Amino acid sequence: MSGASKGKTAVEIRGVHKSFGALHVLKGIDLTIDAGEVVCVIGPSGSGKSTLLRCVNLLEEPEEGHIFVNGVEITDPDVDLDAQRRKIGMVFQQFNLFPHLTVTENLTLPQRRVLGRAPEEAARVAEENLKRVGLAQKASAYPAQLSGGQQQRVAIARALAMHPELMLFDEPTSALDPELVGDVLAVMRMLAREGMTMMVVTHEMSFAREVADRVVFMDGGVIVEQGPGAQVIGNPSHERTRTFLSRVLDPAAVSL
Ligand SMILES: Nc1ncnc2c1ncn2[C@@H]1O[C@H](COP(=O)(O)OP(=O)(O)O)[C@@H](O)[C@H]1O
Ligand SMILES: [Mg+2]
Repeated sequence: MSGASKGKTAVEIRGVHKSFGALHVLKGIDLTIDAGEVVCVIGPSGSGKSTLLRCVNLLEEPEEGHIFVNGVEITDPDVDLDAQRRKIGMVFQQFNLFPHLTVTENLTLPQRRVLGRAPEEAARVAEENLKRVGLAQKASAYPAQLSGGQQQRVAIARALAMHPELMLFDEPTSALDPELVGDVLAVMRMLAREGMTMMVVTHEMSFAREVADRVVFMDGGVIVEQGPGAQVIGNPSHERTRTFLSRVLDPAAVSL
């Protein structure tokens, strides 16, 4: 990555609260992510991980607190939200590709619609990003002709084609058969190496431990602890983290 942006703050989350009706889901979240940093968010189902991630591009609107992305407050009511969202790529558990469009068309459509790129330029950027995820040979295929892992790599390439400054991943491998997970994680590893700023909600503990600069453990709408993976996953200081890890690392033990 360009060394210039190293050390800058990419995401700043300050005092964020979010409720759905009576359900208080985020209870005062403070989190800062530096440019080029990979932050993995782990925690039990229902702890608010997706809600937090979705707040970062304002798919959910916090009722309290402030969120800045690359210095721009996206929680400011006057912000140009479309302009800010263009800089943020998001990859979901479900790939959300258009089934009636080829792989290439899935990549060129948002570039043309959202960024107004000329067809030739969009096609060139599509090809370049399909290569990056190892799927240049699938350019003319339709999503249904691809495995889940390949579809997810297309979804990542689609996001990359928009040249985002920040990538948000919400359990990108959770819908995949186990043997397809590795290829998707390999692409994410490549992005991390290239210096992409990434916020990744994941249950892949070995990925988090190996790739994340920082692991954040959430439970009950708060950040319980955070630090290097070797610390949070390898040697957690809170009982809640230990309980969670014992369950995900040895699921068979849960019901005993
Ligand atoms: N749009 C919504 N409306 C109502 N409740 C929601 C909505 N989104 C999430 N929730 C609830 O908020 C809580 C946290 O959800 P979520 O952020 O998806 O957790 P996680 O991603 O950690 O599993 C859950 O109890 C969930 O049911
Ligand atoms: Mg979730």
